[in-house]
Amino acid sequence: MDNKQAMIEEIKALAKEKNAIILAHNYQIPEIQDLADLTGDSLALSIQASKTDADIIVFCGVHFMAEAASIVCPDKKVIIPVKDAGCAMADMLTAQQLREFKAQHPGVPVVTYVNSSAEVKAESDICCTSANAIQVVKWTKSQEVIMTPDRNLAAWVRRHTDQTVYSWNGYCPIHDELTVEAVREAMKKHPDAILMAHPECPETVLELAHVVRSTSGMLKYAKESDAKKFIVATEIGLLHPLKKENPDKEFFEASPDMLCADMKKTGLKELLAALKNEEPVVRVEEDVRKKALKAVERMMEVPRD
Ligand code: 13P
Ligand code: SF4
Repeated sequence: MDNKQAMIEEIKALAKEKNAIILAHNYQIPEIQDLADLTGDSLALSIQASKTDADIIVFCGVHFMAEAASIVCPDKKVIIPVKDAGCAMADMLTAQQLREFKAQHPGVPVVTYVNSSAEVKAESDICCTSANAIQVVKWTKSQEVIMTPDRNLAAWVRRHTDQTVYSWNGYCPIHDELTVEAVREAMKKHPDAILMAHPECPETVLELAHVVRSTSGMLKYAKESDAKKFIVATEIGLLHPLKKENPDKEFFEASPDMLCADMKKTGLKELLAALKNEEPVVRVEEDVRKKALKAVERMMEVPRD
């Protein structure tokens, strides 16, 4: 047995012994996705975390995702294998900045993307993910809505409602830097491919897309579609499950630069050490947790398509 296989076996045995569940985001490296108990987008993983009866949740993803798991499961030990795996977008908004933004729009409900800190969620009325943002904003039934922290997701939602959306000027650098030129180039190379884009991409890119979906939404679309070729405008980690689930179809990256370094920090070594030591633990201070939970629970109540 090679070293990698030995580590995989040890991780699986330890997880079983400790009644731990391993969750992995769709952008994680292939080895991690392949051994995880569950993979998915942010929404699917939060729902799974809230339902699990495992004692330990090991979250292979970035910090806000592990925090979200801890918000919904305060009695469980939530572990993130790499403590400093963060999200540049989540770091673009602090709770204090949100309080000041709210003061500029008094009484306007705040819809916050899950890519945010627990403190920011605690200052929000309801959370959303890329899979349900339009439904959540419509669900507020408010003529005016504040959306944080992603300006691109907000612009996407704005196009699909007649509500006024005030957005924070945050963004995901990996998606935001995707240019129309790069996308047109990929489309020229693969003229018969479907362009699937994530709503964190700039509006100009989304205008060219045939479908706009969350990461799991793209997996579902590719599986159900009769098309054989797809250009994928999101973080390149998603190509692994797309190819694995659809061996008869072809997937092309919109740009090789769409790589989130934080999502790649977790390797087998880090996961094994985290399971052995049961750390680093992510826990949210109770006061903040209770407020953030309300925003997350409201989101869970919104009917999904
Ligand atoms: P989803 O998997 O929810 O589409 O989110 C993408 C993302 O950027 C996670 O960091
Ligand atoms: Fe954050 Fe973007 Fe990385 Fe997702 S891909 S974790 S939004 S920086």
